This record gives sequence, C-alpha cells and structure tokens, in this order.
Amino acid sequence: MKFTSISHIEKLKASGEKFSCLTAYDASFANVMSEVGIDMILVGDSLGNVVQGQKTTVPVTLEQMEYHIECVSRGNENCLIVGDMPYMSYSTPEEAYDTARRIMQAGAQMVKLEGGAWLLDTIQGLTVRGIPVCTHLGLTPQSVDALGGFKVQGRDSDGAQAMIDDAKSLEAAGARMLVLECVPSDLAKQIAQELTIPVMGIGAGVDVDGQVLVLHDMLGISSFQAKFVRNFMADAKGNIKDAIKLYHDEVKAERFPASEHSFE
Ligand code: KIV
Ligand code: NA
Repeated sequence: MKFTSISHIEKLKASGEKFSCLTAYDASFANVMSEVGIDMILVGDSLGNVVQGQKTTVPVTLEQMEYHIECVSRGNENCLIVGDMPYMSYSTPEEAYDTARRIMQAGAQMVKLEGGAWLLDTIQGLTVRGIPVCTHLGLTPQSVDALGGFKVQGRDSDGAQAMIDDAKSLEAAGARMLVLECVPSDLAKQIAQELTIPVMGIGAGVDVDGQVLVLHDMLGISSFQAKFVRNFMADAKGNIKDAIKLYHDEVKAERFPASEHSFE
C-alpha cells in the first residue's frame, strides 16, 4: 500500500484537476474504489442512514465509526481515507482531540467535522497536534433538528455572506479541506475560488474542486434520491465497478454534476 495524504488532493486543486470522492463503509467497496482510482474515500456518518437504516446521522456512535474505518482501511490501497467525527463527539476541543485520536488510529488520514466559527479553537488545536481537518458547511446533517429539515443553505444574501466568512475563518484556523453540502452553485464556486484549500461539493454544483456522493445513492439503492444524485448504476448497466468508474470519469471530465443536479 502506498502512503496517501491530503497533499495529493491539494496538488489536484493546484493543477485544476477535479478530485473524486465516494463514501465507503467496508473493505470490499474500498478495494473496488482503490482499483478504479477514486482519489478519496469518506467513511461518512451517513452510514447511519444507508447501513443502519436510521432517519438521520444523529444516532451514530464513535465506536461504530471506528469499526467502519477499520474495515475500509483493510480494503483500501491508494485512496485518502477521511473519517467523520460523529454527533456530539467534538463538543469541546479536548473531546475533539480524543475523538480524532480514535478516528486516526482506526485508519483515517484526516478527520471531518461539521460547523463554522464555533469550531475555530478546535481546528487550531487539532492542526497544531498534526491532525489534518476537513470541515463541512451548508446542510450539516448532524444539525438537522436545528435546521428544520434537509434544505438548501445559503440562499439569502445574509446566509451566503455568513458561509463565505465561516469558510475563510476555517481556512485561517488551519482546516485543510471543506465540504459544501446543498449550497447554490454560484456561492460554492465563489468559496472554492476564494479559498486555497480544496473544496468538495455535494449538491454544490460543478465549479468546486472535487465531488462526493454517498455510495448507496449513486448506486440507486437508497430509499430517497435527492436532486443532486445521479444513478450511475443505471448508466453503467447494473455493473457496480463500472458505475464507480463512470462516476470517477464524469467528475474528472466535469460532466458531473450537471445543472439538473445543482441548485441555483
Ligand atoms: O456522511 C457523509 O456521507 C457525508 C457526506 C455527505 C459529505 O458527510
Ligand atoms: Na457526514
């Protein structure tokens, strides 16, 4: 297995090449993704939805995240592995350090957490301790009960400006990557242009630095298909490996996401 780190994704942003990411929760899919050449695997707390059958990611525990990161890590060859810090596992910087230690020791090379300005101390603290951090703005599923549902974020000008400000301060605090979920394409484009760090979109249009989808969504086996999802399994005539390869190729060619998968 070759050594992979965030610097691979940073080089892709610098060269203008889009990067591909999918979620995975087990060794077999991680192995297929490695063979296909997917740049990055996110072991997302979306496993609550697609593996456990929960309505939200709120019930997912740190023990469960560790288990799935260990599984993915055994099947992975070449992909950067990012592990989600689950619900309420980073409420204070000290708690975040302990959680990050467990996520990294389970086999991740980067941790991901959800939120803006309130996390600056935590991100700074993780960064000086040598932990690369990915943050997540827009629709942050762990806060779905406060947000009032799964809705596009940053549509009004105050909300958009707040997201830009948050993104810049997260970068200044040391964040190495940002996920934007369900954000209007123009806003996501502006954030990706103004930040040096790679910006990865899901429902954020094509003009960001990379794309991520939940595996089960792009295979067309989730109970609900969001607007930003394309069923690559259908387009690949029902072959899983071909579907993952097609996704990778379409991201690199900037043919996914198309406008029909994006929010204006
Ligand atoms: O958990 C997850 O799969 C995620 C992605 C949707 C970005 O956080
Ligand atoms: Na997540």
